[in-house]
Amino acid sequence: MYRQGGRILRIDCSLAYHGYCQSLSRSQPYTAQRRPEEPAHGAWRPLHHCQITSFPEALANPIKTPDITTLCKEAYPGQGEPLRTIKCCPPNIGKEIKPFVFPKKERARRRWPAHDGSRKQVEKYKNAVRAMRALPDDHPHSFVNQAKFHCAYCNGGYTQVENGFPDIEIQIHNSWLFFPFHSWYLYFYERILGKLINDPTFALPYWNWDDPAGMMMPEIFAMEEDNNPLFDPNRNRGHDPPTILNLEFFGQENEYSNETQIECNLITVRRDLITNGCDTISFFGGAYVAGNPPPGTRDDSVGSVEAGSHTAMHIWVGDRNRPLREDMGNFYSSGYDPLFFAHHSNVDRMWKLWKDLDYRGHKDPTNPDWLNASYVFYDENQDLVRVYNKDCVDIKKLGYEFKEPEGPLPWLKSRPKRRSSIENMSLDPLFGQGRDVIIAEQLEFPVRLDRIFRVCVKRPAVNRTKEEKEKANEILMIKGITFRSDKFVKFDVFVNVFFEDNQVPKPCIPEYAGAFAEIPNIYLDKMMTMTSGARFALDELFEDTQTEDDEYARVTLVPRTSFDDLTISGIKIELVPNV
Ligand code: C2O
Repeated sequence: MYRQGGRILRIDCSLAYHGYCQSLSRSQPYTAQRRPEEPAHGAWRPLHHCQITSFPEALANPIKTPDITTLCKEAYPGQGEPLRTIKCCPPNIGKEIKPFVFPKKERARRRWPAHDGSRKQVEKYKNAVRAMRALPDDHPHSFVNQAKFHCAYCNGGYTQVENGFPDIEIQIHNSWLFFPFHSWYLYFYERILGKLINDPTFALPYWNWDDPAGMMMPEIFAMEEDNNPLFDPNRNRGHDPPTILNLEFFGQENEYSNETQIECNLITVRRDLITNGCDTISFFGGAYVAGNPPPGTRDDSVGSVEAGSHTAMHIWVGDRNRPLREDMGNFYSSGYDPLFFAHHSNVDRMWKLWKDLDYRGHKDPTNPDWLNASYVFYDENQDLVRVYNKDCVDIKKLGYEFKEPEGPLPWLKSRPKRRSSIENMSLDPLFGQGRDVIIAEQLEFPVRLDRIFRVCVKRPAVNRTKEEKEKANEILMIKGITFRSDKFVKFDVFVNVFFEDNQVPKPCIPEYAGAFAEIPNIYLDKMMTMTSGARFALDELFEDTQTEDDEYARVTLVPRTSFDDLTISGIKIELVPNV
């Protein structure tokens, strides 16, 4: 029985199970538990000849943000009492927008791991932020105005008026604009700080949360003493050092040992960059072009890092005792925490590391609608400049680099242990026989995710060869995820594992595919709901759980928080070309 909308949809479990999941699929993922009456090679036909889904290139226009000083609207008031102002428009000092000029060849600014800065680096950084905080609020470089950029660009400040759509708002999250927008934002922020202390080589720190050595809030941000300019009282103080951070955080504390938490974090980073970051769109997020309503109101997918480790860290840092989770736990206020910039410096670094891995599929978008999307910022000379995505893909040309910790990337080999037999939890190859097991194709959507939801999803192919896997990734697509925009929303996705509702396993087992998570956003308050999508790559998961020949994937969605109004409008598995 499954409730959807007001109706009750009754599903015959035995039909669902015996009609599909069992007879079509050779349910033998866990050899030790295989039932004797189950045919070893049942009467199913392998589906080697499969349709590869391809995505048409968007034929539209690149998003062009308007003059940020004259065409900016105030963000919408949300519910509750916002701690920070929602008047997010940058000041107008009568400047015209200029084209961007690359910096002169100078010594590269070397961004450094925040937990491992030299005393000099830390002092400079503190002095620069102190100087920024000392500027009058109406100065384009002021701490407040720098923070406001984030709010203006994601809380409804701008519309696509330059593209001829004055009523359609711009949103730089939840789509392929995520990496380039934040990269530019930090580029100028870094140069402004450098200018404030007269240091042309000044470089930001990065929060090295992908390395065990950096897996806590960096001390330099956490110290409250001496009016530390990097400190922000609006944080979850329960996460002060030496608490180990949790890259899958959903609002509740884990009971893991530090060792387990670190291991799980490494698995998450690898999953975001390699498994679920397997192709351009999976890594960057869905296409977003002029004429599209803001991502978040349409059905597209969020990039793997954005939805994964990035969002988890926002929520992990934000003050959970505030209804709007300021500062880091809400889009509109994130820029008020200096840690935000160190966090995004690492997100920017993730983009670079992803490309440097040079795996098949790890390519920047080449679509002109991505390349030519543009934003306007104040530069270090208080000039307004227009910058394009295509100009931020090569950080060398932008004059900065990252000081990498020595040794190999700590998460590169952190693939969850392959399952060989039944281990520490009750794995049920029958996927909860006798319970509500349903087949995606038989389901009437939307379905409500107000409790754990189990569904069998047909695969486009089974037992694919190595070559076939190189050509296309098998990806689980969850479409039309609709939820309340003002709440932190998260659900986890497990595949080919059964567990009791009160025994949800750790997110570092091979059956964990990833999560959908969304930072609260007050700007859509007048609409209240957002719609988005998620993608999870399954090839490694099938290999690691020895279920490559199952014709159905048994998917379990575990709503974690704010799921009262959470629904999905489709779930399917597709082969996506790895180009
Ligand atoms: Cu613009 Cu991490 O958010």
